[in-house]
Amino acid sequence: MLNGELRTVYTKPSETLLFVLRDRLGLTGPKRVCENGDCGACTVLLSGKPVKACLILAVEVQGLSVQTVEGIEDQNLKKAFVEEGGFQCGFCTSGFITLTHSIFRDFPEILETCAGVQVTRGSPGLWLPTGKRGKRDRNKLYGHS
Ligand code: FES
Repeated sequence: MLNGELRTVYTKPSETLLFVLRDRLGLTGPKRVCENGDCGACTVLLSGKPVKACLILAVEVQGLSVQTVEGIEDQNLKKAFVEEGGFQCGFCTSGFITLTHSIFRDFPEILETCAGVQVTRGSPGLWLPTGKRGKRDRNKLYGHS
């Protein structure tokens, strides 16, 4: 399943999931940057868990669920990233959104745990609104007032 739809794709054994998503299926949300697992720009959800698509062979996901940023329906989260400047140059934002979606879904208590804590921009693949507006921004992500 890819973003909720059953898909059949023929791949070579050496093709990564990132290559197949971007170059065969045209899903350009996952970005190709480091291709060695460092940056997180290629993050997708594999059976609900975040993985770096550049490190997974496409043949490994046969029969599993893959979700890209295109399949994440949480418009509040996407909108908050845009409106609150939750990106740097923007190229990696789709990976950040995908990872943040899974963190908030699996660990909703993190919204309270992280209140007042700044997560630096240097944290690979991890982003939360920071600075003076951080708590307000985090609450806004999930509709808390
Ligand atoms: S492209 Fe950087 S972690 Fe995959």
